[in-house]
Amino acid sequence: MFRLDDQVAIITGSGSPKGIGKEIALTFAKQGAKLVIADLNKKGVDEVVNEIENQGGVAFGIELDVTNKVSVDNMIESVMDHYGKIDILVNNAGISQKVTVEDMTLTDMQKIFTVNMFGLFLTTQAVLKPMKAQNYGRIVSLSSVSGKRGGGVFGGAHYSASKAAVLGF
Ligand SMILES: NC(=O)c1ccc[n+]([C@@H]2O[C@H](COP(=O)([O-])OP(=O)(O)OC[C@H]3O[C@@H](n4cnc5c(N)ncnc54)[C@H](O)[C@@H]3O)[C@@H](O)[C@H]2O)c1
Repeated sequence: MFRLDDQVAIITGSGSPKGIGKEIALTFAKQGAKLVIADLNKKGVDEVVNEIENQGGVAFGIELDVTNKVSVDNMIESVMDHYGKIDILVNNAGISQKVTVEDMTLTDMQKIFTVNMFGLFLTTQAVLKPMKAQNYGRIVSLSSVSGKRGGGVFGGAHYSASKAAVLGF
């Protein structure tokens, strides 16, 4: 893998103990990146920060709700205060739910889109200013195979639709 020396990388949803975000964070840290571990789950954030530091990496943890613009803006401000720049954003935070369309409520649909698509929009928009100011930035967003071939595998049709929206965005 290529090196990421001194690049500042925010990974949303990286506080999940067995999650993909944590593995991305650990891998980036091994390649020299300075991590921002951001998640609703503050206990998980602290554990991942400890794990990275114990392996000799650099990490800064912060509680984040991607669906809340104030929380997203506060995170950006904290990261800029702490590291002085943002090079990489990985939009990893996401939720799923197994439910048929027949049993799905409008609230189910709204919850999934609020996190998987609207939250991803808020974090993406928020990093544009610092990235444009330094004329460098990379944004990676996690979709899913469900976003291409429909629901029923990892979640309901609302999950698939939200991941298709991520691809379009
Ligand atoms: N696990 C899979 O097989 C798979 C397959 C394809 C895509 N994905 C996608 O990869 C990503 C990670 O999946 P995972 O399996 O590691 O999930 P996970 O549930 O283990 O981790 C997701 C994390 O997102 C956090 N989160 C949820 N809502 C949040 C919010 N509002 N603000 C901030 N953080 C929030 C959770 O606290 C959790 O720590 C998701 O976007 C998922 O849709 C997963």
